[in-house]
Amino acid sequence: MLNPLISRRRLMAAGSMASFSVLFSKLAYGAATGDAGPGASTATSVVPAFLGSSPQTLPPLPWADNALEPTISARTIGIHYGKHHRAYFDNLHKLLAGTPLEQASLEQIIMQSHDQPALADVFNNAAQAWNHNFYWNSLSPAPSAPSEKLQAAITRKFGSVDALAKALVATSASQFGSGWGWLVLDRGELAVVKTSNAETPFTRELVPLLTVDVWEHAYYLDYQNRRPDYLVATVSRHLNWAFASANLDRV
Ligand SMILES: [Fe+2]
Repeated sequence: MLNPLISRRRLMAAGSMASFSVLFSKLAYGAATGDAGPGASTATSVVPAFLGSSPQTLPPLPWADNALEPTISARTIGIHYGKHHRAYFDNLHKLLAGTPLEQASLEQIIMQSHDQPALADVFNNAAQAWNHNFYWNSLSPAPSAPSEKLQAAITRKFGSVDALAKALVATSASQFGSGWGWLVLDRGELAVVKTSNAETPFTRELVPLLTVDVWEHAYYLDYQNRRPDYLVATVSRHLNWAFASANLDRV
């Protein structure tokens, strides 16, 4: 049974009572109706159809923890998935227990909490949970090739897969501090972008197709400070072009 009073107490530390009460009312309304409620911004409430609906449950890795060796060690994958990724879900469960968003999808939570300073913890943990779901699927032990449709889009924008890979490595390597590198669809055109910390492209109406994690926990055990080496090895050997092609088909 929902208990908004408990949830208010739990989350009040994140913001003032007045501002949080307003936010909570909008979130509660949105969770029940799919709308953000009177006065709420539509842009923060609509989940794009292509994203689907991800439960607040840590999914299994799509491959064995040693499947990306020697590029990424089983030790790195084990800690990254078993400690970091799991912690984002655990934190989210604690933050949302007893609130109307307790059963909401990650996508709903992200769209309703981004750009809301009082809900920064909720956004950060939900977005990191989603980004990591997406990251594991962006990597593949075995080589794959882009679909015809994706290959045509790559040729049109970048000239070749190699040129796109170089752009993705360069952009991701240049992220200052923690964050992510992405191949996205931006108003019908492919683009390479970076986001900081937990930020995820779909809150900015960009369609994510592939991602690489550039938080230090993704590579430090294997590469220490050599982030570009991690990126070159991972992008050249393990990008899951079949996943990117399927994401493009859903748009
Ligand atoms: Fe990570």
